[in-house]
Amino acid sequence: MSTKNIVHAEAVAQYTESRLVPDTPAFAHAYTNSTAHGIPEIALSPAQGKFTSILASISGAKNVLELGTLGGYSALWFAQAIKGRGGKVTSIEINKQRRDVAIENLEYAGVKVPEEVEILLGAGLDVLPRLAEEIDQGKRERFDFTFIDADWDNQAAYFDWGVKLSNGKGSVIYVDNVVRQLLEIGTVGSAEKDSTVQDLVEIVAKDDRVEATVMQTCGSKDMDGFLLARTK
Ligand SMILES: C[S@@+](CC[C@H](N)C(=O)[O-])C[C@H]1O[C@@H](n2cnc3c(N)ncnc32)[C@H](O)[C@@H]1O
Repeated sequence: MSTKNIVHAEAVAQYTESRLVPDTPAFAHAYTNSTAHGIPEIALSPAQGKFTSILASISGAKNVLELGTLGGYSALWFAQAIKGRGGKVTSIEINKQRRDVAIENLEYAGVKVPEEVEILLGAGLDVLPRLAEEIDQGKRERFDFTFIDADWDNQAAYFDWGVKLSNGKGSVIYVDNVVRQLLEIGTVGSAEKDSTVQDLVEIVAKDDRVEATVMQTCGSKDMDGFLLARTK
């Protein structure tokens, strides 16, 4: 396999994003205001933000669950994808300052918080059982699309919750950064194998509730990739 074109990945990202995902004040502000508050620059790239938004839109999603809000950049893309469908984005963030900045960024973009995007403060594994209870009590709708982008150690548990809280057959679970993690824990590649971290791909491969694939990506954020699953 030739990798000679990988050196152009950054230039391709710049060229394509400048034409297909030009900055709008709302999205530009979400980046700059987050940085001004000292929030790390680890949000989705514009291209991936738009990609996940289009994916949520064409999957017909009404209710989106997100693990890892940061400054609300990806939540803003999801809000755009489901606008007018009568649902909302529910995003979970462990860090209060990030939650507050995300609310600021969403409101600047004209998104209604919490009606269109609700941000729940807390650790994912504490908040998710509460969402399950609320669903059981008929106080909350099930999720058509789950986007997992928080701490890597809990990816497998988040995936399981994503399936449990999903809206039946055809719901989507998207787990970001799966390829980087595979390489970092030495499942593939030259890094020393770290068997303390669960291999999500192995777990999902044995999960009869879903069908899934991994797509490798290469762009402004180096080589990475995501796992995309659909409930059966
Ligand atoms: C990669 S960032 C999310 C980026 C965001 N989805 C975007 O693209 O705009 C990961 C976020 O997950 C949060 N996080 C880390 N551990 C968490 C946990 N256990 N529960 C909830 N959020 C967590 C971090 O504070 C951080 O803001």
